[in-house]
Amino acid sequence: MNPFDVEELRLETPGCESGVHFNHSGASLPSRSTLETIWNYLRREAADGPMEAANDASALLEDVRAGAASLIGAMPDEIAFMGSGTAAWGAAFAALPPLAAGDRILVGRQEWGGNLATIQTAAARAGARIDTIPTREDGAVDASALASMIDDRVRLVSLTWLPANGGLINDAAAVGRVTKAAGIPYFIDAGQALGHIPIDVASLGCDVLKAAGRKFLRGPRGTAILYVRQEFLQRLTPSYLDVVSGPIVDGVVTLRNDARRFEASENPPALLLGLGTAIRQARALGIDVIHGRIAALAGTLRANLRSIPKVTVRDLGTDLSGIVSFTIDGIPASEVRAALAERQIAIGANGVPYTPLDMTARGLDQIARASVSYLNTPSEVALLSEAVAEVAARA
Ligand SMILES: Cc1ncc(COP(=O)(O)O)c(C=O)c1O
Repeated sequence: MNPFDVEELRLETPGCESGVHFNHSGASLPSRSTLETIWNYLRREAADGPMEAANDASALLEDVRAGAASLIGAMPDEIAFMGSGTAAWGAAFAALPPLAAGDRILVGRQEWGGNLATIQTAAARAGARIDTIPTREDGAVDASALASMIDDRVRLVSLTWLPANGGLINDAAAVGRVTKAAGIPYFIDAGQALGHIPIDVASLGCDVLKAAGRKFLRGPRGTAILYVRQEFLQRLTPSYLDVVSGPIVDGVVTLRNDARRFEASENPPALLLGLGTAIRQARALGIDVIHGRIAALAGTLRANLRSIPKVTVRDLGTDLSGIVSFTIDGIPASEVRAALAERQIAIGANGVPYTPLDMTARGLDQIARASVSYLNTPSEVALLSEAVAEVAARA
């Protein structure tokens, strides 16, 4: 269970000193070296001037880009740095050819609410339609059902790989095989996957993939990566440009020929360098090892929660992630979160807007969400389980 020195890693994480953190799917706890990378760079900006410091940072930022690419099996020129997952997804979506009346966009039932709101707005404007891909019996997106939905009006398939509201891991590669065979653009929201499970864009078969840095990867808030497959890039025209993504040369807009077509010239080097440290640390530990430890801890937590009266584990699927969702009869999830916070245990609580299609289909209005990192320990899992049992006993 302990392939690396978790105690040492916890000592190197200031947030581990002050409480028990089970909200890694909201935002995880950065390491001391990630924080120091950020602080050191901010000190340099203060001393040398921000623009002047940036001259020396550009080679380092290209190392971060290369690290981010390696983490997902991409090439560095297929990676753009963005400010959030939503901004990354929205930028790629807005760059697709305009929708027309009668066009269709197919989404998984667990699609992230922000993506869905963006699609819905564009579809309503164009008279296009959103269709939800049916689920298998275990609640996962059904790739074979998707195959039978494809026709020449489908413009995009969008899948949230690991949903925000539970432990499901959708079979994103199976969906990719269908979209590839049909030649349809395929976007993956990997917001909850980065730094959590292995990612290889080639075997996923996606054209676009995005994820924020702050979740399981333990990078800083305000960072995200956008992957755009090199050949697919040519089909995308960003909805806005700036002097780096599309400089005007001799009066002509010259779109960059790499994913930086989507990147703002004004990016925060301190945060991106911090992201680079988090990526280096995750790669040094090994994503397979990280995933194995998360899976073991989450498995124990689920088993514990299942044994508590009035508690229902709400995770769908067969292949499960480190996001453990549950409800307690008679207590809203927001109150469960507050009761645990009083005991210095941080968890999340989601309502319908995060995953509107799935929550509505299941008749759920809230779920409590305990998300597990490799930083957590078996004793923290026991502590959380006991605290949930106490809260449930009060109901
Ligand atoms: C699956 C998924 N997609 C997207 C997001 C939103 O990402 P961001 O807050 O970086 O825009 C989240 C946030 O929790 C998420 O869980």
